[in-house]
Amino acid sequence: MLVGLSINAIDNPDTEFRRVGGKLFNKETKFILRIALLSNFKWIARKLGLKLIPSDITKFFMGVVKDTVNYRLENNIQRNDVLDTLMKIRDETQENEGKLTIGEIGAQCFVFFIGGFETSSSTGTFVLYNLVKYPEVQEKLRNEIRTILARHDNKITYEAMQEMKYLQMVVDETLRMYPPVFQALRQAARDYKVEKDNFIIPKDILVSIPIYAIHHDPEYYPEPDKFDPDRFNDENKAQRHPMAFLPFGHGPRNCIGFRFGLMQTKIALIQLLLNFRVYASEKTPDPIKFDPDATPLTSITDMWLKFEKL
Ligand code: HEM
Repeated sequence: MLVGLSINAIDNPDTEFRRVGGKLFNKETKFILRIALLSNFKWIARKLGLKLIPSDITKFFMGVVKDTVNYRLENNIQRNDVLDTLMKIRDETQENEGKLTIGEIGAQCFVFFIGGFETSSSTGTFVLYNLVKYPEVQEKLRNEIRTILARHDNKITYEAMQEMKYLQMVVDETLRMYPPVFQALRQAARDYKVEKDNFIIPKDILVSIPIYAIHHDPEYYPEPDKFDPDRFNDENKAQRHPMAFLPFGHGPRNCIGFRFGLMQTKIALIQLLLNFRVYASEKTPDPIKFDPDATPLTSITDMWLKFEKL
């Protein structure tokens, strides 16, 4: 559901939303190059008329948001969702308080859409990849899921998922190895002295926090290419620097959708593992080669896996 629309991309894979989301991240759009140019050479990029989001995507998305806002206003519809909240904020603020424009409402909806579009499905895919390579982990995880669900009337509830500690460890270790968002950006609000290295980050400079590199630093994760969910048991987690694990960023601008993202990834994995055993096929990449033009982190080849019905 986005802005209160029923999209249903599973039964209808040709839906415009899926096409638009796919287009934003595909090679032709050069999204990563656009981000690099607009963040590092803003002035030149603006002079060249470069936009972060291609115009046809903006046009489609703004059209959907405007139509939905108007429809709700005309028909007095309330759905208690993100769009309702944004409309309420707009109504309750005065012009001089920075009233939200329809463009800003559309931008907020859009960032929710792209933030949740590839990240959760990539995480699920990388988890399955790890489970194929480590079948003993797959069995252990399936046993945990079955045992806990049996205690919960075989219903996948929030409470049942909270009990699935091993599932969380498997997902965390996968997010460590394959963080879909592999860097976070920050702009220095003032000159900042890094005491340890006697180094100043000047005001306004853009800083890239290399999430992928931190997650593969042997100082924090010995044998970083090895998949080992036990790195995320309570004891091991407590011993590590808290900033050594940043799949959702950190601080006031961290991922706003991280609980939702984790939840939908876990629901998909639980359903799949209850119903299928997953294997490698001769086409499964090993190791995964990343697409240098893609964001989020993506395998350059398709991810082929075999599913056997249980
Ligand atoms: C496993 C899934 C996900 C991962 C790994 C992920 C990762 C991230 C990361 C690393 C950031 C940047 C944080 C920072 O700079 O400190 C981010 C930002 C964001 N994410 Fe996610 N995300 C996921 C799912 C979602 C979902 C499902 C949504 C929305 C429903 C979402 C919406 C956003 C938004 C709106 C931002 C920008 C927040 C801001 O700038 O204040 N994400 N995400």
